[in-house]
Amino acid sequence: MSTKEKLYEGKAKILYPTDNPEILLTYFKDDATAFNALKRGQIRGKGEVNCTVSVALLSYLENKGIPTHLIEKISPLEMLVKAVQIIPVEVVVRNIAAGSLCKQTGLPEGQILPQPLVEFYLKNDDLGDPLLTYDRLMLLELVTDSQLTELKNLTLKINQLLQTFFLECDITLVDFKLEFGFDGEGKIILADEISPDTCRLWDNKISDPQARIMDKDRFRRDLGEVENAYQKVQERILAKIN
Ligand code: TMP
Repeated sequence: MSTKEKLYEGKAKILYPTDNPEILLTYFKDDATAFNALKRGQIRGKGEVNCTVSVALLSYLENKGIPTHLIEKISPLEMLVKAVQIIPVEVVVRNIAAGSLCKQTGLPEGQILPQPLVEFYLKNDDLGDPLLTYDRLMLLELVTDSQLTELKNLTLKINQLLQTFFLECDITLVDFKLEFGFDGEGKIILADEISPDTCRLWDNKISDPQARIMDKDRFRRDLGEVENAYQKVQERILAKIN
């Protein structure tokens, strides 16, 4: 862990400054929260898995032409990233109905969506990360109309690339959350992490709907075998890229 003073501590990661103001260090914790931190716990080995998986997926995307904040992994729990100004909007893309989409619309869990659904949520824990409409996004002036289109297009491209990637790991990418930021030149780049904390991943080798869950839903819903599920995701990804 860095000896420097923390810049920011989130629920699952800590950001440290480095000697270079354009570079930050992300440290991945084992801490897990759900339902806006109403539920708290630890998932043993999660920090290592999420660091490894995030680095693998961000570098895969970078190689496919998606600009990301990743610089390099420097230890099992740490990656160096470009300093960005995070856009306080969580971008969720869904291929299959699950989670809050089912709760809020009544769609049955597991229903395949006719096309990927992109949604924007305000990144604000005090307000419970509410779902935003287009007009609310414009009202809050967090992004311009053309930046919103760029975010949506980038997200759909990332979804296509990750769906293909996970399919080759025998995993269905149900949905996931992305965060973006502005780099030094004002360009939008992919930031944060992509991991079993931020994706819903279902094992294609298993048909039982609960047994096949390989992501943080095991923690959210007290399904057990959380650590094993995270390890399995990491193993499949490492087997594919090595
Ligand atoms: P949801 O169905 O709860 O809205 O979640 C959609 C996706 O976003 C799911 O893959 C989990 C991820 N997610 C986060 O990464 N962070 C969050 O705070 C929430 C609520 C969801």
